[in-house]
Amino acid sequence: MQSRLIDPAGPAIPALGLGCMGMSTNYGPADQDESLATLHRALELGVVHFDTSASYGEGRNEELLARFLPGNRDRVFLATKFAIRRDGGVHRVDSSPGWARQSCENSLRRLGVDVIDLFYLHRRNPEVPIEDTVAAMADLVAQGKVRRLGLSEVGAQTIRRAHAVHPISALQIEYSLFSRDIEDEVLPVCRELGIRLVAYSPIGRGLLTGTIRSTDGLDGSDNRLNHPRFAAGNLDHNLALVDRIRDIAGAAGCTPAQVAIAWVLAQGDDVHAIPGTTRRTHLAENVAAADVVLTEEQLAALSGLGPAAGARLSAFAQTMVGH
Ligand code: ATR
Repeated sequence: MQSRLIDPAGPAIPALGLGCMGMSTNYGPADQDESLATLHRALELGVVHFDTSASYGEGRNEELLARFLPGNRDRVFLATKFAIRRDGGVHRVDSSPGWARQSCENSLRRLGVDVIDLFYLHRRNPEVPIEDTVAAMADLVAQGKVRRLGLSEVGAQTIRRAHAVHPISALQIEYSLFSRDIEDEVLPVCRELGIRLVAYSPIGRGLLTGTIRSTDGLDGSDNRLNHPRFAAGNLDHNLALVDRIRDIAGAAGCTPAQVAIAWVLAQGDDVHAIPGTTRRTHLAENVAAADVVLTEEQLAALSGLGPAAGARLSAFAQTMVGH
């Protein structure tokens, strides 16, 4: 699999990582044995970048990774995040310096590791100056608890202010054929500052795979039931786009999921993609996408598809974003 720098100073890691969130939350119940087997298979297939967060399943996702890390830690590039807290059943964003320190300790303990390779601010609370948050994160680097810093779901000005306090290695944000708004401002700023992009939801929360044709089969706890892209009206428009992607996939000799991932990876060698899956079959399909080469014509046709219908974040998820 092709490798790319995750930071100007390195290391180079395979361009495709594994988003682990769905193993513990968001898309309905996931089989834990199959999830664990998927983590192991990922390493066998050459994936080294594993992405989790303290908030996924309120720590359970990190605990799942802790079952896989012993014996594998040296080969894994481990990314986790802090700032989304749940107290008394209510979510809130806490990007305070104190919580950066405490959440990092919690993550190290849950993961059973000495150091985190990439420690992200998951969301920003605009009431906390970003400079204060990043200064606390930088202390964690100085203490050897984390190796490098990342941000997630923040705007261009916050990226600049953060980077002025301590180099930011990566910005994790949604980027896919359906979610391209970062191309106007955020991606150019990352490029100017040498910050890598880690694209989450590269397959549109499963929609771009072409395997979801309605919300009927989704579990009652699946967040996609409340997601604008899956809402009646919007879904029909988006599925029509998926049909066109399927045609291009047919011409390219691959699947729609692979086309969607290959398009993201074709946007620059500073872009990493972390499609999420809980199954070895889907993992193998997604990993193979890193070797799919689309023609200029195919890439242009994909880029010209036009926007998806519906906001990219649910109303609730939008409340957590504080640029
Ligand atoms: P996120 O970053 O939020 O995880 P994503 O990577 O765009 O979003 O999509 C994840 C969703 O796509 C999951 O519901 C995943 O379901 P499985 O756990 O059942 O795989 C689904 N998905 C991932 N790869 C897939 C594939 N190759 N075919 C079909 N569905 C897939």
